[in-house]
Amino acid sequence: MSKVANRTVTFINNTSGSAITSEELDLNTCFGDNEIVIKIRAAALNPVDLIIQNFAFSWLVNKEPKTYSRDYSGDVVKVGKNVENFKIGDKVCGLYAHIFGRQGTLGDYLILDPTKKCAIEQMPRFDDPKYSDYVLNAAWPLVFGTAHRALFGYGQKLGPESQILVIGASTSVSTALVQIAKNYLRVGTVVGICSQKSFEYNRTLGFDHLVAYDGDKDVVSQVTELIEGELDHKKFDLVFDSVGNDSFFPKLDDVLKDKNENSYYMTVVGDRKLNYTNVSKWEALKPKREMLKRYGPFRKYNYATVLTQENAAFVKLGCELISQKKYAPVIDSVHEIENYTNAFERLLSNRAKGKVVVEIN
Ligand SMILES: NC(=O)c1ccc[n+]([C@@H]2O[C@H](COP(=O)([O-])OP(=O)(O)OC[C@H]3O[C@@H](n4cnc5c(N)ncnc54)[C@H](OP(=O)(O)O)[C@@H]3O)[C@@H](O)[C@H]2O)c1
Repeated sequence: MSKVANRTVTFINNTSGSAITSEELDLNTCFGDNEIVIKIRAAALNPVDLIIQNFAFSWLVNKEPKTYSRDYSGDVVKVGKNVENFKIGDKVCGLYAHIFGRQGTLGDYLILDPTKKCAIEQMPRFDDPKYSDYVLNAAWPLVFGTAHRALFGYGQKLGPESQILVIGASTSVSTALVQIAKNYLRVGTVVGICSQKSFEYNRTLGFDHLVAYDGDKDVVSQVTELIEGELDHKKFDLVFDSVGNDSFFPKLDDVLKDKNENSYYMTVVGDRKLNYTNVSKWEALKPKREMLKRYGPFRKYNYATVLTQENAAFVKLGCELISQKKYAPVIDSVHEIENYTNAFERLLSNRAKGKVVVEIN
């Protein structure tokens, strides 16, 4: 039977809510000569989806359904006649970037040209007793790609002599970053900031020191004391923020090496912690005084807002590290597509410990 139902979780705009919509797809005719059709088996949620939806003002976007999610794992079920590296039956995973896309990964089928949507690879195996390879492979591409971009995209040569400070040690992006840093780049010291209850687990991922944001003392004092004590006055080559924290800026000279040493302050969020349930649109975009210190001829430190890029290099490295057991994503919870609202709620709680994954069977 060539005609199938293609269910997708969609929204129209920022007041429409979300729903599972379904349309008929003819598997014999829905793809071009350069395209493959993937039956998605699992997709991961990302805060960025819910943040983007907040910006889908009715006056800005059209009335067509828009989709969620970028990470996917699944089976190739159709292959165009010009496609070279994929065949029917391949199990694949990857990152499908889009904004307000008609096609996302939180649905049954994905049609793409693998030479253009090139962040796609054959699925590596995890042999995990708890989660299927589909679940685990849907959980890593976007966060691994973001961490990869931070570590390799700005000309830094990080290695055994380097030190990294991670603000938000428990986020999925940071759990990828620490594993790449310690297990691949062999970075000497990675310090993480997280809640006290996460210390034990985060240590197993490779953090050398952990600092609590929910303890008696403020994090900046704790980090500067660490530098003056155990870190032997050595400052950081990279401060990586995955939560939106501005408390280090007044003391950055005490924490980050000089900009001439190619040190960087990077963020994947911005300078403010976003409340996923109610992103204040203009608050997120409003310029801050701190910007004067970052840009222009009198720049005081190197600063970058890191954005994931869809490229083949990070997926290749991710697969390599997974196969060598040097990287594994952390899973918070797995939900069926029919219960996708529970998955959204879990993500919105901002307490997810790892990826929230949706299975699509
Ligand atoms: N720029 C990009 O391309 C890109 C790509 C992916 C994600 N992002 C953004 O990166 C951010 C992180 O996303 P994610 O999916 O990795 O993480 P996430 O799953 O949203 O992170 C949840 C974790 O954050 C920690 N946390 C909460 N409040 C904190 C605070 N005040 N200080 C430190 N940690 C805190 C909590 O752990 P503990 O309380 O145990 O520490 C919780 O487990 C999101 O804002 C997302 O939109 C950006």
